[in-house]
Amino acid sequence: MTVITCIEDLRQLARRRVPRMFYDYADSGAWTESTYRANQEDFQPIRLRQRVAVPMEPRSTRTTMVGQPVAMPVALAPTGLTGMQHADGEILAARAAQRFGVPFTLSTMSICSIEDVAEHAGPGFWFQLYVMRDRDFVARLIDRAKAAGCSALVLTLDLQILGQRHKDLKNGLSAPPKPTLANLLNLATKPRWCWHMLRTPRRQFGNIVGHVKGVDDISSLSAWTQQQFDPTLSWRDVEWIKNRWGGKLILKGIMDPEDARLAVQSGADAIVVSNHGGRQLDGAESTIRALPRIVAAVGGQIEIHMDSGIRSGQDVLKARALGARGTYIGRAFLWGLGALGEAGVTKALEILHKELELTMAFTGHTDIETVDRSVLIPGTFPTA
Ligand code: GLV
Repeated sequence: MTVITCIEDLRQLARRRVPRMFYDYADSGAWTESTYRANQEDFQPIRLRQRVAVPMEPRSTRTTMVGQPVAMPVALAPTGLTGMQHADGEILAARAAQRFGVPFTLSTMSICSIEDVAEHAGPGFWFQLYVMRDRDFVARLIDRAKAAGCSALVLTLDLQILGQRHKDLKNGLSAPPKPTLANLLNLATKPRWCWHMLRTPRRQFGNIVGHVKGVDDISSLSAWTQQQFDPTLSWRDVEWIKNRWGGKLILKGIMDPEDARLAVQSGADAIVVSNHGGRQLDGAESTIRALPRIVAAVGGQIEIHMDSGIRSGQDVLKARALGARGTYIGRAFLWGLGALGEAGVTKALEILHKELELTMAFTGHTDIETVDRSVLIPGTFPTA
């Protein structure tokens, strides 16, 4: 491929360069993947109002998310095993995000640890928390994120049990990959990936291995989730986490107005309308369709973000028009990372930024802060 012009180009390159089990891990949804598909597809019928002969310069996509300035309303979502898409993946993605001026969110299930990312990419990134049965470990994770200078905590509420993604089971997903014949044959076709991976010590779940007594190998995400994640997670725990953390708190995985109201009562700073990229409840509504209902329920009371299905700047503008102050990209940056490392993450951000600011101008706006529902053609977008 010579010229990369869109996220789809990065996806295709990543598919060639990343070992199959990790490519598949990112590019899959639960069971029939109907929600995974709907997340993207439901953006398509929404039509934009083209305006002409209005000033188009200078253009600004600057805004804030939980009070922090961002170059555009796009954060990097927490994604598990990012350091398996490319060696040192979390550090590279955090650096690219920081240079671009958007938040990077480190997953609990990352390969590079919190401390490692802080040391090599600088503080200020966000940390995503999963709640495990071992509350002491959860408390320590929160404290570690605080000590490392993380500037927001993203608490994921929709993955206390793991949705089934068929490909992960068929591929025998693990980090690092087991030296089976099938894996070795596949790795042999990914020399760039292997070359980088052999040069890094970071090949295990860095936040966990060495931090939990007796755990020195948790290669399987699904086994670890089943044993350690706490399915009894409740709003009482959210309160405990909020108090322990003491900083900006973002609750991720809200799809229902009733849960959104409870989130407001919890005192969180923001919610993320998210179905986990279609990776959890197959059959859940797409997030762009769920968004207006949540905005109608709690829009004035809490900051609303959304993720799942964002592949272009047009998608970002549509989400913003429907009331999301910020959006998150997961696969879109992972494909950049798998394709080209840090430069690929930067490329993904540049692509989205360019698409966003041009789309904004075509709809008659030079400032993202003035964009509202009026950029959309009535009757083409979901409503409450
Ligand atoms: C973890 O966040 C996953 O979706 O696999």
